[in-house]
Amino acid sequence: MPENSYYDQNLVEHQVKSGQHRDVIGGMWDEIGGLQFEFLVAHGLLPHHRLIDVGCGSLRGGVQFARYLDHGNYYGIDLNQSLIDAGYELEFKPAGLDSRVPRNNFHATADFDFSPFEKPFDFALALSVFTHLTLNSIRICLERLAPSMAPGGIFFATVFALNPKLPTWKPALHQPGGITTYGDRDPYHYRREDLTYIASVSGWTAEWIGQFDHPRDQQMVCFRIAEDLRRSEAVLRGESD
Ligand SMILES: C[S@@+](CC[C@H](N)C(=O)[O-])C[C@H]1O[C@@H](n2cnc3c(N)ncnc32)[C@H](O)[C@@H]1O
Repeated sequence: MPENSYYDQNLVEHQVKSGQHRDVIGGMWDEIGGLQFEFLVAHGLLPHHRLIDVGCGSLRGGVQFARYLDHGNYYGIDLNQSLIDAGYELEFKPAGLDSRVPRNNFHATADFDFSPFEKPFDFALALSVFTHLTLNSIRICLERLAPSMAPGGIFFATVFALNPKLPTWKPALHQPGGITTYGDRDPYHYRREDLTYIASVSGWTAEWIGQFDHPRDQQMVCFRIAEDLRRSEAVLRGESD
């Protein structure tokens, strides 16, 4: 069984062709688009920064970031080419944002391949993406992103948090939003310690931020590249043993 329904790329493409590119990625277009934008600006994102949107989807956040960041400074990867294409054709072009962000700032990848982008990123964001991923996939994402971050780079990601008093194997209901999460299937829940550990073995540190007014009870985690972790990036790239 695939780890989330977005791996059914034919179904996603069919939904996009049926005009559902906003709904497929969760809807609440203006609300959650605005929320992620306001959050990053409040946490230091400036127009000259370079931002990579991990699991950018149909550019719900992208339309906000593209308007704000200097020309060419917004980048995105996603599993689904059809979502990127819909975002660019149906959201960016009508808003004139294609003149601010070139088409080749986006890359469809199933394995967190950031290699097409040459310069490092100051900020990274994964909004409503780790909520759909296994811990092993999150680790691969962190490992592969670390070498593409600038010194002091920051990666914000949202997760569903599991109450530490509850076992991971029991479904957990989240309010607001009414989403039920699971330990072994999408949407996944995690303990704080899961993220702290996975960061520590992937070239990052993790700081729990928690509530940030997400309407479906997603919580924010801040991953940082520490200077003294730079050494491990060479290992992650396979350049030393
Ligand atoms: C709920 S949507 C969020 C999209 C976007 N971050 C936003 O806030 O609008 C989840 C996105 O994650 C993408 N995704 C799921 N698994 C992925 C993976 N393994 N690698 C890259 N993207 C993935 C999906 O294709 C989808 O676009």
